[in-house]
Amino acid sequence: MKIVEPKATHRVPDGIIEGKDVKKTVKLYKDAKSFYANEDVNLADDVCMYTVYSYQVGDPNEQGNLIWGLSILEPVLVNGECNMTRGHFHEDEGCAEFYQGLSGEGLLMLMDGQGEIVAEKVFPGSLHYIAGNLAHRLICTGDVPMKVVACWPSTAGHDYARVEKHPFTARVFKKDNELIIEER
Ligand SMILES: [Fe+2]
Repeated sequence: MKIVEPKATHRVPDGIIEGKDVKKTVKLYKDAKSFYANEDVNLADDVCMYTVYSYQVGDPNEQGNLIWGLSILEPVLVNGECNMTRGHFHEDEGCAEFYQGLSGEGLLMLMDGQGEIVAEKVFPGSLHYIAGNLAHRLICTGDVPMKVVACWPSTAGHDYARVEKHPFTARVFKKDNELIIEER
C-alpha cells in the first residue's frame, strides 16, 4: 500500500479549496444587478459580490459523481439589501445538496415550487440539508465574509431560468444593524 498526498485540500474555516481540478468563478456587481430590488449607483461595476470554488473530478455527467464547493459572499449592501447568490433550482429534482456554514453569518433561503419560503440561519458549524425540489440562495447578513461549503451531485444542474420566472418571494435588507424582511 502506497501512502500518498490528497489530490486537493480545503483548510477550514479560512482556507480555500486548492488542487489541480479546482475551478474559481467570481460574480461581480455588474453581473448581479438583476438580483436586487434596486440598482445601487454608488456601487462600482467591478465590486466582487461572491466567489465560488468547485472541485470535481472526472466526467460531470456520470451518475454518482460529486462536487465539493465553497462560496464566499462579501458583506456588501445593495441599496440596503443584503448581498446574495443568484439562487437556483436543480435541473434534476432528484438531487439533494448539503451546505455547511464555515464563517460569517447569514441565511439560506429555501423555496418550493409553490413559492413557500423559509430561511435557515447560517453560522459557523450550521449544517443544511437541501431537498432536491427546493430553490436555494445564500444571503450574507453579517459584517465579515460569509463562507459556506457545499456538496452536491454533479448531475444536479442549475436551473436559473426557473428562479427568474418564479423569483424568491422574500428579500432581506439591513438597516441600523437590524434585518428587515420584505415578503410579497
Ligand atoms: Fe444547488
